[in-house]
Amino acid sequence: MILIILGSIAYGGFTLVNDFYTKQAATEKAAAEAAIVAAKEAKRKEPVYIQLPGAQPVRALVEDSNTNSSIWVLVNKTHSLPLGYIPAPIAVPNVATKTDKSKEEQSVRSDIIGPIKTMFDAAASAGHNLMIDSGYRSAELQAYYFNNLANSVGAEAANQSIAKPGQSEHQLGLTIDISNVSLECYLNDCFADTGNGQWLANNSYKFGFIVRYPKGKVAITQYQYEPWHFRYVGIELATALHDSGLTLDEAWPYIQTAKNTLIDNGAISV
Ligand code: DAL
Ligand code: ZN
Repeated sequence: MILIILGSIAYGGFTLVNDFYTKQAATEKAAAEAAIVAAKEAKRKEPVYIQLPGAQPVRALVEDSNTNSSIWVLVNKTHSLPLGYIPAPIAVPNVATKTDKSKEEQSVRSDIIGPIKTMFDAAASAGHNLMIDSGYRSAELQAYYFNNLANSVGAEAANQSIAKPGQSEHQLGLTIDISNVSLECYLNDCFADTGNGQWLANNSYKFGFIVRYPKGKVAITQYQYEPWHFRYVGIELATALHDSGLTLDEAWPYIQTAKNTLIDNGAISV
C-alpha cells in the first residue's frame, strides 16, 4: 500500500515535470518562430539603395521597375512596350500646350501633371515660357510619325530621331517634348541654346525630369541629341542621373540589381 502511494506521488511528480518541459519547449518553439517571422518582416522592410557613381544613394522604389507603369521603366530600342499598352489615366495639363496637336497628344499621365505644372511655374518665375509640344503618343501615332519620316529619308535614318512604334517613351505618358511658346528652335538642336533650353538643362532634374537623349551619349541611347525631350523618373533618380552623368540606359543595371535585392528580401514578387 505504502509502495503504491509512493509510486503515485513519484508518477505525479514526473508528470508535472514532464508537462513543465513540454510547455517550455512549445514556448521556445513559438518564440523561435516569431523571431523568424520578425526577421523576415525586417528584411522585407529594409531600405534598398541604388548607388550611381558620383551621386547620392537613391532609395529604390518598392515595385517592379520592369512594369510598364513604373516611373523607372526603361524603353529603348531593346526594351519595347506592347503596342497595345495604354497608360491610365491621362489628361491635358493646365500649362501651355501646342493646340494644333490632338487632345490625346497634349496629354500626359495624370500623376505627372503636378510635377509638370510646378516645373513650368518655376520656369515662368525665371522668365521662361515653356510649351508642351508632344506628350502621350499611342503606338499608332508613333507609327504615323515614324513612317512619315521613313518614307522620305529611309527607315534607318528615321530611327535616329523617331522611335519605332512600341519603342517610344511617349507611349508611357511620362515624356514631354518641350518647346518655346514662340517656337524658336522648334525640335532643333539650337533649342539647347535658347533661354528655355538652358533653364531646362540646368533645372529639369529638380522636378523629376531628365534630358533623356543627351549630347555625347548617342552611342548609348541610339538616338540623336534631343534637348527638348524630357522623361519623368521622379526627383530622386533624376537628381542622381544628373549628378552621375549617366543615362537611364546606363543606370538600368543598377536599378535591376536593386530590384533583385527587393525580390530576395521578399519586398516585391514578380
Ligand atoms: N524622338 C524619340 C526618340 C521618340 O520618338 O520617342
Ligand atoms: Zn520626344
